[in-house]
Amino acid sequence: MSKLVCPVMLVETVSKVTDYRLGDFPKRLEPGNVLMCPPTHFTVKTVQNPFMEGKVGTVDTELAKKQWQALKEIYESIGCEVKTIDPVEDLEDMVFAANQVLPGLDDNGRPFVILGEMRNAKRNEEVPWYRRWFVANGYHVIDIDDAMVNEEYTPCFEGQGDAIWHPGRKLLWCAYGPRTDKQSATLLNSLLNVTVLQLKLNDARFYHLDTCFCTIDEDTVMIYEGAFDADGLALIGHFFKKVISVSENEALNFALNAVAINGNVILQKGSPQIVETLKKSGFTPIEVDTSEFMKSGGSVFCLKMMVY
Ligand code: ARG
Repeated sequence: MSKLVCPVMLVETVSKVTDYRLGDFPKRLEPGNVLMCPPTHFTVKTVQNPFMEGKVGTVDTELAKKQWQALKEIYESIGCEVKTIDPVEDLEDMVFAANQVLPGLDDNGRPFVILGEMRNAKRNEEVPWYRRWFVANGYHVIDIDDAMVNEEYTPCFEGQGDAIWHPGRKLLWCAYGPRTDKQSATLLNSLLNVTVLQLKLNDARFYHLDTCFCTIDEDTVMIYEGAFDADGLALIGHFFKKVISVSENEALNFALNAVAINGNVILQKGSPQIVETLKKSGFTPIEVDTSEFMKSGGSVFCLKMMVY
């Protein structure tokens, strides 16, 4: 039975959405292009996540540049235009272009970004540079704290690292835990007027949603189950027809920090089980090596922002 009103809710448990299916949410145009930041100044200087432990000073910059270039060429080979933002000296993590903002399209089809508020003060310095790029490229900029009633505290929000649109739908998956604060979901819900599905991250190694949750298409997602609680798993199971579970080993090899575009799935090499599963499910895995970036806790997904 079709419903008259499309629900806009903040959802923490599946009980709130049992009456609704994916088709009840409005369609959304996926961005087709990619924004990347050259790794000119990339290195590991301080430890901000478990993957960075023991990695300070170990990055091979020349190899990182080659790996980044190879990834850029893969995007181009599958028909994406790769735009770049100028790297800034001393902002070594600026190369991880997935974290500073969350882009979207408003109801009039105008592109916008919600600016992030990074947990790490040094990383927060990246945000104004990204803001500038998006303004210059015609995006309308929204501050996450525009929806705050008092100005005392801005919750942390790490952009597309923790907020991932459901493919093709106005429905936002938003995680909280090590980086993004729980309160962000409330603000996103009211700022964007979209339903936000909240997921709690339960394992410090999976510090961003993009390390343990990878959407492939409207019906398919790959996850590492151990990163979520029972409520989160129930929500994921409710909205995706096919949930592919990835082993702990492959998840720790950043198999889920992958990018799916039109049936192609670009992912870190060295995860044979998931490559096999993807092939059997009719997708085309494309393996790359991002070893130098993994020393900083990031891989394929982290190295880009999808843009309009
Ligand atoms: N060193 C960066 C950090 O800890 C890596 C960010 C990786 N990005 C991501 N979306 N998971 O913030």
